[in-house]
Amino acid sequence: MEFDFATPVDRRHPPEGDWPSQKWHRYGEDVLPLWVADMDFASPPAVIEALQARVAHGVFGYGQVPESLKQAVCDWSVEHYGWAIAPDWQLWLPGVVPALHLASLALTAPGDGVLTVTPIYPPFLRVAEHTGRLPQQAALRAPGAPGEPWRLDLEALEAAITPETRLLLWCQPHNPTGRVWTREELAGLAALVERHDLLVVSDELHCDLLLDEGARHVPLAAAFPGLAYRTLTLWAPSKTFNLAGLTAACAVIPDAGLRRRFAAAAKGLQPDGNVLGLVAAEAAYRHGEPWRQALLETLRDHRRRLVERVARWPGVTLSAPESTYLAWLDLREAPALQGTEASPQRWLLEHVSVALSDGADFGWPGFVRLNFGTTAAQLEAALSRLDGVLKG
Ligand SMILES: Cc1ncc(COP(=O)(O)O)c(C=O)c1O
Repeated sequence: MEFDFATPVDRRHPPEGDWPSQKWHRYGEDVLPLWVADMDFASPPAVIEALQARVAHGVFGYGQVPESLKQAVCDWSVEHYGWAIAPDWQLWLPGVVPALHLASLALTAPGDGVLTVTPIYPPFLRVAEHTGRLPQQAALRAPGAPGEPWRLDLEALEAAITPETRLLLWCQPHNPTGRVWTREELAGLAALVERHDLLVVSDELHCDLLLDEGARHVPLAAAFPGLAYRTLTLWAPSKTFNLAGLTAACAVIPDAGLRRRFAAAAKGLQPDGNVLGLVAAEAAYRHGEPWRQALLETLRDHRRRLVERVARWPGVTLSAPESTYLAWLDLREAPALQGTEASPQRWLLEHVSVALSDGADFGWPGFVRLNFGTTAAQLEAALSRLDGVLKG
């Protein structure tokens, strides 16, 4: 079956109605937005059809998480990750970021340390503060030379651990670098987690977007069974099937005690399930696979275009992302940016009207994150603008 990832869907001025989006309405009309992490593609036809049927029903009272959705996630997990999970390990909630906060509230006490690595998706950096816990961070090891990957720095991570440290907020695959951590890196992490008796939230939101042919995601809790009973795994169909606005995510918690504590903390702080989000999630997991495969081909092609282009920009480096549609660019040595006060993100916005995400928000100033989950034409237009100032 053919899917269309080339024809632009008008998100700036949809002909059907006035439906502002964060991505397209934050900046002016002349700006090409390659920032917030959603894609410019329509969701899989099977998802749209399921939503149409649910909308036609016309009654949107309080729903319940369908058992059939929980089963669809169990099936997806076995088939794609080789991990047999039980339906009742799943707690559905409106988002992964709320789950990060709830985990901190539920599983730690005021003053406990909440540890993460940088660079990292910005909300990770605010969880501790928002929940009255102690923020703790360790930097990843940046590439030593162009083309090398970002690496987990286990020594730095261990050095950041104090007697207060209780919870690790982990991200695999990693936003913003696109790293898919190696078994060796994860084994070191697992040993460290056990040694310091930590709990882990493993945000695996991007795990169905591994770009290399044949790559297979292994959930942290599945790779190291000793970790399963101290890990909350967060999944959602939102990145893979472009459903972020429908707010449906899933925490997989094998340990009954942790599950009870998490569910108790969630009471009153989050709404009941979004009936449309749950329908979309089930359709995506049951029928979205052919679309996902076609999407991965498109994203591979876009990654190739991007890597080729960045290679022509002196002083700019990128280690090709192994997953998702986000690219993490180091602009600290870019000649055009030398001597400017503005961040690279601000400078590029002002000079070429391309909106990227600012690395400073991820804990690493001088970097930007570029979202290539858009049509080839829009990506090309943005790269041409960037060529104008970054090409040698
Ligand atoms: C790693 C990661 N976690 C969480 C989120 C946000 O998830 P949600 O919209 O479900 O809160 C994102 C969005 O970009 C993300 O990249």
